[in-house]
Amino acid sequence: MEIVLSGIRSTGNLHLGNYFGAIRNFVKMQEEHTCFFFIADFHSLTTHPAPEDLFGSTKQILVEYLASGLDPEKCTLYRQSDIPEIPELYLLLNMNAYLGELERCTTFKEKKSRQSENINAGLLTYPVLMAADILIHRASKVPVGKDQEQHLEMTRNFAARFNRIYGVDYFPKPTAFNFSEQLVKIPGLNGSGKMGKSEGNAINLADEPEVIRKKVMKAVTDNGPTVTNQKMAEPVKNLFTLLKVVSSPETVNFFTDKYNDCSIRYGDLKKQLADDIITFTTPIRKQINELKLDNDYLRKVIDNGTDKARASASKTLKEVREIIGFKKF
Ligand code: TRP
Repeated sequence: MEIVLSGIRSTGNLHLGNYFGAIRNFVKMQEEHTCFFFIADFHSLTTHPAPEDLFGSTKQILVEYLASGLDPEKCTLYRQSDIPEIPELYLLLNMNAYLGELERCTTFKEKKSRQSENINAGLLTYPVLMAADILIHRASKVPVGKDQEQHLEMTRNFAARFNRIYGVDYFPKPTAFNFSEQLVKIPGLNGSGKMGKSEGNAINLADEPEVIRKKVMKAVTDNGPTVTNQKMAEPVKNLFTLLKVVSSPETVNFFTDKYNDCSIRYGDLKKQLADDIITFTTPIRKQINELKLDNDYLRKVIDNGTDKARASASKTLKEVREIIGFKKF
């Protein structure tokens, strides 16, 4: 059994790409490991959200994760800003994080060139806060995608440096973690690339059926196959990738055969795909809409998650303080 931890950025709605790329795995991991999942609302402050948006997006994320199957009885689900031990560990780790390595971080360099009017210290030390998130529970496995590899490597460096400076073997060196099966990369509906909020090609778990239908019917295709067993072009292949995750094998075979013998009508394929996406998302969407109204339940989830997370976090921080040399008078 591993200690698994992942932080969830509080921006935007969850879409099918998030679900099949990550959440489905979190849902399985919570059955087998000690899992900490949290909403990274401190991290979201780097872009200065308005106060009313900060809470709204945190609530939305919480609701969508619960509706997708994260079970607060099986994992520890909490909000970063409810755990004061995290910013304290962040402060301590900052003392041994060097300007050079922080400036060399790819995400920092990208942000620096994209939002040159707001290069704040929080952005520079984002990887230190992320290391604090992970090390506060001494987690060893972090289920994140490629884009977070470098941050994880920096966490390992900070952990190893702490151990070396104080001559201890205290922090583990966390590594990326995927559930046994291959992660499915969900493509967008605009012909290429992967599904993403910023790409504007996403089907959200909370989308109403008519919205889903409209988005799917607008998906890019091609002129159709003209010879049997023709190689599929990217946009059509993408539709089949989606079909494979939401439809039955019979449905997939049916349309694959039709493609191969050139009798396929993309309109029929899209209609089926939309129906099957709607069948898949409807129970989740209903849960989202119900949970949104149930503030008492959400408060219970967060209170309970906060208690569990703080129990673990305060133990680590107490030990870290001892190692560093803070003593009682
Ligand atoms: N940086 C992560 C992202 O952008 C979110 C995150 C914050 C995180 N703290 C973390 C992920 C700790 C894993 C572990 O997606």
